[in-house]
Amino acid sequence: MRITVVGAGYVGLSTGLVLASLGNEVYFVDVEEKKIEDLKKGLVPFKEPYVKGLLEKTTRSGNIEFSNLYSTTIPNSDLVFICVGTPPKVNGEVDLRQVKKAIKSIGECLSRRFTVIVVKSTVPVGMAKQLKNTLAKAGHKNFAIVSNPEFLREGSAIKDSLTPDRIVIGSDQSKAVKVLIKLYRPIIKQKFENIIVERLPREIPLVLTSNESAELIKYASNAFLTTKISFINEIANIAENVGADITDVAKALGLDPRIGDKFLDAGIGWGGSCFPKDVRALHQIAGNSGYMPVLLKSVIEVNNEQRYRFLQKISKALGENIEGKTIAVLGVAFKSGTDDVRESPAIEIINKLLELGAKIKAYDPLALENAKKVLKNNSDITFCTSPYDAAKGVSALIITTEWPEFKNLNFRRIKSLLKSPILIDGRNLIDKDMVKKLGFKYWAVGRK
Ligand code: UGA
Repeated sequence: MRITVVGAGYVGLSTGLVLASLGNEVYFVDVEEKKIEDLKKGLVPFKEPYVKGLLEKTTRSGNIEFSNLYSTTIPNSDLVFICVGTPPKVNGEVDLRQVKKAIKSIGECLSRRFTVIVVKSTVPVGMAKQLKNTLAKAGHKNFAIVSNPEFLREGSAIKDSLTPDRIVIGSDQSKAVKVLIKLYRPIIKQKFENIIVERLPREIPLVLTSNESAELIKYASNAFLTTKISFINEIANIAENVGADITDVAKALGLDPRIGDKFLDAGIGWGGSCFPKDVRALHQIAGNSGYMPVLLKSVIEVNNEQRYRFLQKISKALGENIEGKTIAVLGVAFKSGTDDVRESPAIEIINKLLELGAKIKAYDPLALENAKKVLKNNSDITFCTSPYDAAKGVSALIITTEWPEFKNLNFRRIKSLLKSPILIDGRNLIDKDMVKKLGFKYWAVGRK
């Protein structure tokens, strides 16, 4: 099939490359000229496993093209994917300017051919209907709007696109649904060549529903995952007070298949470009609909509190005196496996420590360049080339991102570099018995 992907960001690029690798002709359009020029040269604007390889492969096979002109590709496309950003406004509402701009540009170029417009961007419930009205008002008839939310995670975008847990298709037009099912058939049946991921011995479940339900499914999924994390963080805070160990508690909880063992890692809370904005947006959507979401409000509050509790822990560990002390921070990305620092709890903690008069030595395997951009020019922060470099001469070492490689550091060496052997683990990553044996004073979340 011939597909135009509007927005060559995380979701757009990953989705488009996967669809191209399955044999479709994919045209990427993006308003950012530099991004398009870079992609034509094979340069990916973010760090994500397999994306560069797929870009090279699909460029070689001639299945993809990049452009910033809608008019060259939309009139001949069977499908147009809207994958533009829906960032948050300060009041928590969703900024829909990019989606509106995209639909305007698409509308200007639609031909008489039947075109399925697929909304992958996370948009408030009711948006598909609005887009449909916009195009109908402009005189278009031969099109359909399908809500097809994306559930991929940063760090495993390609793997998640090839083996999703489910595919949700929201539409009231069966002709459009059929087109989508045909497009996704190789994925649903797990039939594709050049497998990057192991083929699963099962069909991918398909959920056919209305546009509104598909839109709500996306928000509900992210809200549920954040609820799970805030829940375990709340239990961790209780565990700390009553002398229990949250890692044992979470392990036992997760063994109940009704609960499941995923997303039960206590720590400094959730961040990133999706969870915070989506939970706030759902809170707004609920409010606008006349329902006050009590649980969602608490989920957000627990998350905000979590990083401040961690700051209190750092302060306590340093004898209630942070000012003038140098602290090593391991991890600035919002999670491991990515260079993304958007709404990263680590960045907020660094900013707070700087405000309290600390000096910071930060290390991250991937995200330092992005951290430099958001932390601006601050002479109180030094970006280090290794965890050992960061540990040299500091009063405490804190762990803020769950990078697996931090588990296997040479803690004997780390201890010899620190001014005082204080280790505060915001992700419960480190083998506590091992570091305690080495003589560290160790703090974690929800365990002693
Ligand atoms: C999240 C969802 O997992 C995806 O399904 C969704 O498609 C995506 O948002 C989106 O809406 O675009 P992502 O933002 O890549 O994906 O990050 P996650 O892997 O879900 O992690 C989010 C945050 O939760 C991170 O800060 C992570 O450290 C934290 N987390 C995760 C915990 O604190 N504990 C856990 O047990 C799991």
